[in-house]
Amino acid sequence: MPERMEAPRPDAGEALVRVHAAAITRDELDWPVDRLPAIPSYELSGVVAAVAPDVRSVAIGEPIYALTPFDRDGAAADYIAVPAELLAPKPATIDHVASAAIPLAALSAWQGLFDHGRLEEGERVLIHGAAGGVGHLATQLARLRGAYVIGTASEESLDDARAFGAHEVLDSRNGHFEPAAPSVDLVFDTVGGELLRRSPATLRRGGRLVSVAEDPPQIPPEAEIDASYFVVEPNREQLVEIAGLVDDGVLRPAIDSVFPLSEARAAFARSLSAGKRGKVVLRVADD
Ligand SMILES: NC(=O)c1ccc[n+]([C@@H]2O[C@H](COP(=O)([O-])OP(=O)(O)OC[C@H]3O[C@@H](n4cnc5c(N)ncnc54)[C@H](OP(=O)(O)O)[C@@H]3O)[C@@H](O)[C@H]2O)c1
Repeated sequence: MPERMEAPRPDAGEALVRVHAAAITRDELDWPVDRLPAIPSYELSGVVAAVAPDVRSVAIGEPIYALTPFDRDGAAADYIAVPAELLAPKPATIDHVASAAIPLAALSAWQGLFDHGRLEEGERVLIHGAAGGVGHLATQLARLRGAYVIGTASEESLDDARAFGAHEVLDSRNGHFEPAAPSVDLVFDTVGGELLRRSPATLRRGGRLVSVAEDPPQIPPEAEIDASYFVVEPNREQLVEIAGLVDDGVLRPAIDSVFPLSEARAAFARSLSAGKRGKVVLRVADD
């Protein structure tokens, strides 16, 4: 059962949000925290319940969604206080459960492909975990940018990766994905491990390798590959653009499963299991 505690009060610059749904990410309980106990889940969809006197950007009653800062308590709770500047209007055409599945994964995909990966129209991108929580949104966003998308996934998820827009799909657990000649402009990795270690061989000279899963391997300097790991950052403007794509009907989150907050333990167990299809979401309040 969830623990009981006082609802937080919004400090200067903050809004108190009534959480309707919050999503969770595989491995997030292993991310370093500077406090314990800590409330997990860093993405939410909900309604503004109160604002600090200095807040003008949002008003009570507005439906919002957000990626919340990692250095403070998360959204697996009835209420959360969030810096108001991070709250974006939630997509109007989908419910809170679907909206909560977007912020962390879509911002990871957006920042990985476009900010760190500098993906351009007409380039070739290899996405590892193309049907996963981050990967299924990356596959759609890369396709929308006009890239040629190659996705890796386990055999049972290959059709999903294709449905999300991958031009080509490769079974990540069977055989090799390295082409005869390195030809990929960007690798975006959401899996890590062996797939990440073998990725430099797919990249053309001067290509880019970006991972959200772990640090990339050492690559000989003569390959001129720009390899990096990054941690996603809250970004209201990007969430506004992403909500626009959702409301235009060209970007859709996949929901693997929905659990009530009282069954959060089972939700975290599900987030760690193989064979998921998209995001695991906690329903906190009825829409
Ligand atoms: N650095 C950051 O800012 C940041 C941001 C977001 C996520 N992350 C991390 O990036 C990773 C991917 O996140 P995600 O939300 O996309 O997670 P996810 O959906 O669970 O994983 C992506 C894909 O990885 C494959 N996979 C490999 N090993 C797995 C295992 N033991 N259990 C389940 N799936 C496994 C699965 O693909 P197949 O089933 O097709 O093999 C899965 O679809 C996680 O480790 C997460 O913590 C980091």
